[in-house]
Amino acid sequence: MGCPADRSFCELVVALSTILDVEEETKLYHAWRVALVARELAQKVLPEQSTQVFYAGLLHDLGGIGLDDHLVHLVTRAGAELNPEIREHPRKGAAMVAAIPGLGEEVAAMIRDHHEHWDGSGFPRGLKGGAIVPGALLLGLADHFDLALRTNPGSDWPAVKKAMERKVQGAFPPELPAVLDSLMQEFLFAEVATNAALELKMFRLILNLPPVKFNVNEPMKITINLFARIIDTKHTYTAGHSQRVAGYVVKLARCLGFSEEETGRLEIAGLLHDFGKIAVPRAILDKPGPLDTREIKIVRQHPVRTIDLLTSVSGLKDLARDAGLHHERYDGKGYPYGLQGGEIPLGARIIALADAFDAMTSLRPYQPTRTPEEALAILNRGSGSQFDPQVVAVAPCLLT
Ligand SMILES: [Fe+2]
Ligand SMILES: [Fe+2]
Ligand SMILES: [Fe+2]
Repeated sequence: MGCPADRSFCELVVALSTILDVEEETKLYHAWRVALVARELAQKVLPEQSTQVFYAGLLHDLGGIGLDDHLVHLVTRAGAELNPEIREHPRKGAAMVAAIPGLGEEVAAMIRDHHEHWDGSGFPRGLKGGAIVPGALLLGLADHFDLALRTNPGSDWPAVKKAMERKVQGAFPPELPAVLDSLMQEFLFAEVATNAALELKMFRLILNLPPVKFNVNEPMKITINLFARIIDTKHTYTAGHSQRVAGYVVKLARCLGFSEEETGRLEIAGLLHDFGKIAVPRAILDKPGPLDTREIKIVRQHPVRTIDLLTSVSGLKDLARDAGLHHERYDGKGYPYGLQGGEIPLGARIIALADAFDAMTSLRPYQPTRTPEEALAILNRGSGSQFDPQVVAVAPCLLT
């Protein structure tokens, strides 16, 4: 498999899995733990697919992105498997991942089957035994491990093992829990039991991949486009927002005389500007009334998260500030840092205008939809206060 051995690609998928696991201010590390444990299992029983198993682990619950709560809470509730939305998350996630170049069908199939049980008692299809993709069983067992650890914090391996026992019975081929047991006893439990140890293990793995400079190749581009769609599915009213913003950014950059290379770079920044929004709970994003102070604080964290995430991807580091500083205002009254004028990178000033233009011209619950001409007039009024006059000057390009 070419692409997933690429460090930038790996970091990008890790970044997505990190943000999917953020709940208000805390990181849950569910996807990381499942990925790292399943990968160790794979190295024992399915070595030729351990890379795919790793990526499948990082993205296994991607299909749960539209749910009101994180799956680690939902799946442990009684009768969870009867909830149609929960039942569908493996299939939904598989459909999204199938489009990622280099991962494709194999990883998608593992995700699709990660809640199937050896004895046929799983979901969504109730498959049995050998009908289940082998990698999926590794994900399932690692998933049970993380859930048991979560409900028994601070316990040692024998206690976690005991907590898993009843749930795991019949769900896996009998030799598989034995493999997990010996790995955990040998070294694995110490490496994955705490979040700090888990982070260390993940960073070691990434650092062992060959380093890269800024580089957005074709598979990365396709993946980033898919991520942009994933960001937008988080919020009922923003379908297509990231892609439209990126399109506007391209128009503005061309009218400002940017080179094709520079324009392409900003397009990526536009696609990922709201990456950090994945961590904002849906109840806040879709709240019909005004937000309270706590909610405002959470929403205002999203640009900081975008910067953090993009900084963690070698190939995208250079555009972290362009993407993340899109809520700063030219007059210094924006957030999160209150930067002013030239302190804000030009790319971010361009994205800010593109973002506002899309917010005004697309359907939003809290404001009337404007025509492009009306939006342009409003942008003009904000010239020098909210927006950079130099960018407002080329805003008519948006109408072409
Ligand atoms: Fe799941
Ligand atoms: Fe899970
Ligand atoms: Fe934003």
